[in-house]
Amino acid sequence: TAIKADLTIDTAKSGKVIPPEIYGHFAEHLGRMVYEGVWVGEDSKIPNTRGIRNDVVGALKHLNVPVIRWPGGCFADRYHWMDGIGPRDKRPVTINTIWGGVEESNAFGTHEFMDFAEQIGSKVYIAGNVGTGSPKEMSQWLEYMTASDNSQMAKLRRQNGREAPWKVEYFGVGNETWGCGGDMTPEHSANLFKQFATFSDNYHPDQKTPETRMVKVMSGANVADFNWTEVSMKMKNNNTHALSLHYYTSAGLNWPPSRPSTGFDEAGWAVVLKEAFYMEELVQKHSAIMDKYDPEKKVALYVDEWGTWYKTDDLKNPGFLYQQNSLRDGLVAALHFNIFHKYTDRVKMANLAQTVNVLQAVILTDKDKMILTPTYHVFDLYKPFMGATHIPVMLNSAKYTVGDISLPAVDVSAAKGKDGKIWLAVVNLDPNRPAEVNTSTMGFKAKSAVGRVLTGDRIDAHNTFDKPNTVTLKSYEAKASGSGLVLKLAPKSVTVVEFR
Ligand code: AHR
Repeated sequence: TAIKADLTIDTAKSGKVIPPEIYGHFAEHLGRMVYEGVWVGEDSKIPNTRGIRNDVVGALKHLNVPVIRWPGGCFADRYHWMDGIGPRDKRPVTINTIWGGVEESNAFGTHEFMDFAEQIGSKVYIAGNVGTGSPKEMSQWLEYMTASDNSQMAKLRRQNGREAPWKVEYFGVGNETWGCGGDMTPEHSANLFKQFATFSDNYHPDQKTPETRMVKVMSGANVADFNWTEVSMKMKNNNTHALSLHYYTSAGLNWPPSRPSTGFDEAGWAVVLKEAFYMEELVQKHSAIMDKYDPEKKVALYVDEWGTWYKTDDLKNPGFLYQQNSLRDGLVAALHFNIFHKYTDRVKMANLAQTVNVLQAVILTDKDKMILTPTYHVFDLYKPFMGATHIPVMLNSAKYTVGDISLPAVDVSAAKGKDGKIWLAVVNLDPNRPAEVNTSTMGFKAKSAVGRVLTGDRIDAHNTFDKPNTVTLKSYEAKASGSGLVLKLAPKSVTVVEFR
C-alpha cells in the first residue's frame, strides 16, 4: 500500500529568493579531484582545453555551477600561491602533507583554476592561507588576482600571461581553524581573522561598491560547536561578511567515517538519511546564535562544506577520500536542498564536498572515462530552484520507520521559478513503498505535473564505468482527475515537476 501525504501549495505565501550559490561546489587539491578530475595537462590524450578536461567541463557547464571554492579545505592553509604561478616546468614540487603525502606538482595554480572557473562559467571562492601563511602573502595574492594598475603583483600576473584582473567574489580567511587549519581556540581564530582580513583587499575596479564588494568568510564551526559560533559572532567586525559551517553526513556525528558507500542494508539507508536531516537542526541553532549578535542578518552563514563521507573505497590511497555515490547520496542531496531553501534569510551559500572523485562527488573519473553520479542528477533536477522564489508549503506526511528511526516518508520543497513556473521537488524516503501525495494548489490551477524522476532498483543503485547509466533521470507526468492532483511517487525517489 502506498504511503499517503497531503500537500498544500499556496502561491500567496511566497518566501525569499533562493540564492543560486546554495548550489555551489568545492574543489580541493585532494586525491584525484584536481589532478585527473580537472587537470590532465595540455599534452594528455584525454581531450582538454589548455590542460583542463573537456568532458568534466561539459558536465559542469550543464549544471550552471554558480560558484566554486578552491584550493581547499585543509590544503588551503598549507598552500603557498606563488608555488603555482609562472612557467609550469619551473614550479617547485611540494608535498601535499595533509592528503596522502603525495607530490604536488603545482601544475594547477591560480591561472589554471581561473581558466577552469571561466570554462564552466562559475564565480570563484578562493580560500586563503592563515595556518602557514602571512597577511602579506594573502594580501599579495589578492593584489595578483585583482589589481589592474602597475603594481608589482599586477605586473607579475601580466608577465604570466593574464592581462585583465580576475574577479574574486568570495574569499575565505582560513579554513577549519579549529582543526586542520591551526587547531585554534575560537578566540584566537577570531583575532587572526580580524588581523588577516584587514589586509585582504580586493582591487578589482568593478568590486568597489557595497553590492559588488568581495565577501570575506570567517572560518566557522564544526557540526554542533555552538560556542564557536557564539565567540565568532561576539568578536566579529566589519570584515565578517560571512561565517562558515561544516557538517558531513555520516561522519559529522561518527568520526572516523566508517559506513560503506554501497552494500549497506536498510538500516544503513535510514540512518544516513536521518543524519542528512540533522543539517536542519544545525542551521536553525547556529542561525539562532547569529540572530542574537546580528538581528539584521548582515552576516551570512555559508555551509561551505557538506556531503556524505563514508569509509573510503580506495584502499590503496585512503587519504584520497574516494567513494562511490549511490541513490542514497542523491536523496541526501535533495534533502539538503530542501532544507537550505527554507533558511535563505541566513544561509546564502552551500558548497558540496567535493565536485570530482572526492567524497559526495557529482562526477567520477577513471583515467579517460567519466561517469555522472546520482548526486549529479539531483543537482540537474534542482536547477529550476536556482534564483527561484521559495514557497513555504503545508505538508502532512506519514512516517517511514525502520527500527528506532522514524522520518517523514515524504519531504518537499516548492518555488516559483525565474521562468514564472511553479516547481515542486518531492522525495520519497521509503525504499519499499510508493507514495501518493494529494496536492492542492491555491493561487493557480494545476492540470498536470510534468518533470523528471531519479530512482533505482536497489537502495545502493549506482553508476559504474562499465554501467554508467544504471541511475539516470526518467520523465515523469501526473494528470489531475476528478479527485484532484495526486502525485504518485516511486519508492526511494527524487522527483522534480513543474505544474501546468
Ligand atoms: O573535504 C575534505 C576536508 O574536510 C576538507 O579539506 C576539510 O576542510 C574538511 O575537514
